[in-house]
Amino acid sequence: MVPTIEWKDGIVRMLDQTRLPLEVTYFECKTYQDVAKGIKELIIRGAPAIGVAAAMGVALGAQDVKAQNFTDFYGEIEKICSHIGATRPTAVNLFWAIERMKRFIQSHRERPLNAIKELLIEEANRVLREDVEANRAMGKHGAQFIKDGNTILTHCNAGALATGGYGTALGVIRAAKEQGKDINVFADETRPVLQGARLTAWELMEDNIPVTLITDNMAGYFMKKGAIDLCIVGADRIARNGDAANKIGTYSVAVLAREHDIPFYVAAPVSTIDFAIPSGEHIPIEERNRAEVTHVFGKVQIAPAKVRVANPAFDVTPARYITAIITEKGAFKPEDIYKLTE
Ligand code: MRU
Repeated sequence: MVPTIEWKDGIVRMLDQTRLPLEVTYFECKTYQDVAKGIKELIIRGAPAIGVAAAMGVALGAQDVKAQNFTDFYGEIEKICSHIGATRPTAVNLFWAIERMKRFIQSHRERPLNAIKELLIEEANRVLREDVEANRAMGKHGAQFIKDGNTILTHCNAGALATGGYGTALGVIRAAKEQGKDINVFADETRPVLQGARLTAWELMEDNIPVTLITDNMAGYFMKKGAIDLCIVGADRIARNGDAANKIGTYSVAVLAREHDIPFYVAAPVSTIDFAIPSGEHIPIEERNRAEVTHVFGKVQIAPAKVRVANPAFDVTPARYITAIITEKGAFKPEDIYKLTE
């Protein structure tokens, strides 16, 4: 797989996911404002990848700060963090990464500013490396739930493209495949932005993992036929009680899975758990541009120009529909994930 994001020669390079699968091109960020644009416009997307981008954005912004003392330097860092933090509200990894970078700076406040700037680049690369390691660990913990011959339904893209590499939900699928299991994946296309059709189908095909693309409204049909053995999805934010926000349409998949007695798993790193909120009702849901609904991928108009539109980008699946949450620290019943804080 080509890298989703990397720090190279003083710039942040993001694989432009708005152009996949037709073109493999990179968006080069020379400033932290470019990084924020990349996050807001979905050039990079997926909760853990957004976290890595935010960390790199802070490191990139810090390089250009001209301050002479720590207080002024930190003041500028706070401005950079607010700008990056204003891009997308739901994925908690964005705020997790920003807070981590701020804490890191504070813990080195006695060092010369040039040294702090260098250390920030290392720290951002560490966020990237740790994310890939977490995904590989998640894969090992989750692969036990996939049996030889299983067909797995996934929604949106929780793969290498949505993370520093390897993926969360698709990481579990990759790990099962690496164990020699014969598996098939059904990928929901994921209207309105088509992450399933454009990204999941592409990355699984790149890895020779058999994938069948379906439209979102076909999931129930295939479940009823007995074609799906389990569902695995990622998450953008998991509340303390195990309620999980993920791409719009995930809740419908979970309810359908319950009706058909199909296990429904969420795979996400601990950085996606928001221990500060008691339940999913507290998760802010991003409302996106109407054109995503009235047009196919911003190009072909498919609805009357002035029709009223709603476009929530995420929904919350209540913990009771989730069989287990797979993290890098093991698989947990949703009601037990609060223990990860202890
Ligand atoms: O709007 P997106 O494409 O950023 O939404 C992404 C998802 O909903 C993913 O499933 C989630 O971030 C988990 S990614 C490992």
